[in-house]
Amino acid sequence: MKKFVLILLLSIYSFGATAFPVEVSKCATCHNLADTENQPGKAPLMRDIVNSVKANYNSSRDQKTFLYDFLVEPSKCENVKRVLCEEHSTKKYGLMKDIQLTPMESLIIVNFLIDNF
Ligand code: HEC
Repeated sequence: MKKFVLILLLSIYSFGATAFPVEVSKCATCHNLADTENQPGKAPLMRDIVNSVKANYNSSRDQKTFLYDFLVEPSKCENVKRVLCEEHSTKKYGLMKDIQLTPMESLIIVNFLIDNF
């Protein structure tokens, strides 16, 4: 049931504007949201992350589900099919800590990143 509600929300919730929602600014302390600048040492660029997720999952629903599962429990690598961390992220940056988002915050972030990046 929980999964069904999530998928329903994922499919109806979308943004018209491209300004960053305030929830997404929570990612910016570690991930650079801009295209050009780099922030070495903290975390991968958000653009690289989103590109990698899109390269690994065909439908936007699968892309969103992956990101959502990751945000709910970033430390549980094994439970989520990690597409980035195995290859470069965790070695270079260490594990992402759980940043304590509410399900609605995660949903807003996931929709924004997949639809607008
Ligand atoms: C406290 C710093 C920090 C914050 C805040 C943060 N991240 Fe991360 N994130 C990291 C680090 C470090 C990595 C690289 C290690 C890893 O992959 O787990 C990472 C990796 C990731 C990955 C790659 C997962 C994979 O497959 O390897 C995703 C997706 C991600 N972050 C999304 C987000 C989103 C979305 C936000 C905002 C809600 C966010 N992060 C906020 C530090 C952070």
